[in-house]
Order: sequence, then structure tokens, then C-alpha cells
Amino acid sequence: MAKGKTSVFFCSECGFESAKWLGQCPGCKAWNSFVEEPVAKTVKGVSPVTASGGIRIKKPSLIQDISLQDEPRITTGIREMDRVLGGGIVASSLVLVGGDPGIGKSTLLLQVCRNLAADGHKVLYISGEESPKQIRMRAERIGEFSGQMLLLSETCIENIEETVKEEKPEILVIDSIQTMYSEEVSAAPGSVSQVREGTGRLLRLAKGFGCMIFVVGHVTKEGQVAGPRVLEHMVDTVLYFEGDRHASYRILRSVKNRFGSTDEIGVFEMEQTGLTEVPNPSEYMLSGRPLGASGSIVGCSVEGTRPILLEIQALVCRSNFGLPRRQATGTDFNRVNQLMAVLEKRLGLQMGDQDAYVNLAGGMKIVEPAMDLGIAMALVSSFKNVPVQDDMAVFGEVGLNGEIRAVNMAPQRVQEAIKLGFRTIVMPESNKRSLKGVKIEGDIQIIGASSVRDAIDVI
Ligand code: TYD
Ligand code: MG
Repeated sequence: MAKGKTSVFFCSECGFESAKWLGQCPGCKAWNSFVEEPVAKTVKGVSPVTASGGIRIKKPSLIQDISLQDEPRITTGIREMDRVLGGGIVASSLVLVGGDPGIGKSTLLLQVCRNLAADGHKVLYISGEESPKQIRMRAERIGEFSGQMLLLSETCIENIEETVKEEKPEILVIDSIQTMYSEEVSAAPGSVSQVREGTGRLLRLAKGFGCMIFVVGHVTKEGQVAGPRVLEHMVDTVLYFEGDRHASYRILRSVKNRFGSTDEIGVFEMEQTGLTEVPNPSEYMLSGRPLGASGSIVGCSVEGTRPILLEIQALVCRSNFGLPRRQATGTDFNRVNQLMAVLEKRLGLQMGDQDAYVNLAGGMKIVEPAMDLGIAMALVSSFKNVPVQDDMAVFGEVGLNGEIRAVNMAPQRVQEAIKLGFRTIVMPESNKRSLKGVKIEGDIQIIGASSVRDAIDVI
């Protein structure tokens, strides 16, 4: 390295900074994640805060004098999005939207912009990936645009700052942070120091001008926003847009929210004309379910605060090889193995020489323990080739002794199942007490099971 340090090393996972290369990051313990980057030049004389954001020195105030009025929020016109944001966008907030390439981040934000512009807000959409013409073409599929919606193709943060000062948009979209660069950092766009500097500048822009900023961030193979995890610490809200590329539904999840809970999810479907909301995910997930088939059962899971019913499918058949195949799609592979061991030991079912496939229909991924009982019952149903009643829904965690343990949010799960017309609900016995407030009428049967054997006896 040249004299008078010109470069430093950053962990590409968490942004840990070091003067020399390290094999393992002391911060996040990732191996081989250090990359060399030039040192950021600092501007002499001008404090970066006043240079870009125009933040004045503020006086501290007494905690009891601070107004408790709710932050004014702007609704995005997309209910599922508002729900995830905690009721709408908050002024001066910076929202990071992460997700795999092609999942629909740009489409979602374009739809948000369209609604906001139609509501009379001034919107500026800056893309470093697509030309205005390409965006226009995408917009064509989404529908009519009205009001003030400005498009710009730009990757230099300094220019963006100038444009924002000139145009004074209320909402700014940056697609994507990995394509942006600052002239003050000599590293390549997408590098740790560029992403960090860019986000820092946008943050000052948001706080200084009071505009709301959406930043798109790409995701690494491990599913984290590419570049430093520090990015997540800097912004106010982190949303992840996820889903199976082969299925059309998408889930918007908040993993951090300074202005709301992180328990909410939004469900969308990707269609020819953009994303549409799915207000009732259970109905959507259960459509096309085969009736009277063995190995199929409906499980009640909870995503955030929302109960979602979905079909669990299992196929158990004799193996033709010495080592049976086991496969789990949408759920945890090890959990399936464990459940099969429990069934073998506690119920005496000889499944050791059987291949087993478990699948959550619809492409959902759920690792909640409450799905255990459903998976176990689907396995038994397929193994014995006995179909389960069509109007039965189940949930419960299965322990190693074959006992069924209580799960959270039981009343919500039961309510959702009843709402969708299920008449028999198998659930943990120890959860039944919590159902006092739930209206159970007519022919609805709630079966409390304290062991897998109890539950299997029902079928
Ligand atoms: P896009 O928003 O470009 O993804 P990202 O910004 O996350 O990379 O989404 C692109 C995909 O969505 C692309 O495969 C085409 C599909 N799509 C539709 O199915 N319908 C539509 O109306 C639009 C605009 C895109
Ligand atoms: Mg995009």
C-alpha cells in the first residue's frame, strides 16, 4: 500500500472497517468478506451537513414539552402497502425497499408514485437502471398517470441533490442505491463506501428538506440488502419484497419500522397490469385445493398478525433405494425429518423405508412451529392413504415426545378458519382456554389434542 493510506478494507456483509485485510470479519463473523476500497476524500472547510441538507443547529427540548400528536402520514393508495408502513408514509422518512431482482420493486414503487401524483403530490422518480423511456413503457402497463410525476435518469448523488433543491418534490424515489455514486468517494458504484455515502446523503436530504424518500436496494444471495448492513441501521424503515419467482404472489414484509410495527405483511399478486392487492390471502392460497385427496390438509399459520390458511401436502411412498429420499418445499427440511422420527417412535408407524415429500401449496415459505401438526397429519394421511375431512383445519406445535404444545394467536387462527367455512378444527388442548371470546356456533367442532395420537385418532 502506498505511503499515507489511500485505501481501507470493508466487510461487504456488515460494513466493518479495517486497515488491513482480514480473513474473518470480527463484526459479523463472515469469512472472506473483506474488500479493498479507496479512502473517502473529505471536503475541507465545509461541514457536510450544511453542504447538502441545510440542517440548522437545534436546541434540545424538554421531553414533556414534545407534542404527542401523531406524525402526519400520507397514504399510498395501496392498502397493503399502507398497512406494512404502519398507516402510510411519514414526512422526512427514508424507506428502503429490498428484494431479489425482477421481483417487482420498481413496479410497486411506480404504482405508489402514480397514486401519490394523482392525489396532488409532487413526485420525482430517479432511476439509475432504466431510461425514462423504459419507465414510461412500464408505466403504460400500469395505467394512466396524472398530476406531477417527474422522471429522471441519473446516478450522481450530487446532481440529485441539486435537482431536489430545485424541484422540491414531496416524494423522491431512488432506484437503486447500488447504481448511485458520489464524486467524493473514489470507489466504484455499488461498493460499501459508495452505498454508505449515498444513503447518508439521502438521509440528510430527507431530514433537511422534509421529503419522503424510497430507496431500492438489491439483495445478495443470502437475502440481505447488498452492501453493508449499516444501510439498514441508517434508514427509518426497511421493507423486503419477496416471493417465489414462479408463483405470482408477492409478500411485502417490514423488518424494521421506526413509525410502526414490524408484524405486518402485505400480499400482492403480479399481473399483466402490475401488482394487485390480495386482501384475503387465505382464500387465494386455498383456491384449487383438491378435495378428498389423501396427504392433503389445511394448516392455520400466522404471518405477522395475520392468520393465513394454506394447504399442506405430503406424499409418502415406498423407497426403491436403500436411503429414502426426504424433501421439503416451503418448510424446514429438518423439521420434517424430526416429525417423521416422532411419528415412528410415538405412533409406531414404520416410515423408515419410505420416501417423503412435503410441500406447502402456493409457494409460501413458512417455518412456524404451529405448522407441525398439519405436516404430521398430512404425512400420516398419505402413509395410510386415508383422506382427511375436507372441512378440517389444524394447527399446533409437536414436541419430541409427541405432545402438542400451545401456539400463539390461537383465537385468530380459529376465527380465520371459521370464516372460511371450516367446520372441524384440531388444535392444542392447552390453547382451548384462550378461545373464550371466539363465537363458536352451530356445527363447528373444536377438538383439543394433547398428543399426536389424539390428533391422528380424529382421522
Ligand atoms: P420489476 O419491477 O422490474 O422488478 P425489480 O425492480 O424488483 O427488479 O419487475 C419486473 C417483473 O415484473 C418482470 O419480470 C415483468 C413483471 N411484470 C408483470 O408481470 N406485470 C407488469 O405489469 C409489470 C410492470 C411487470
Ligand atoms: Mg427495478
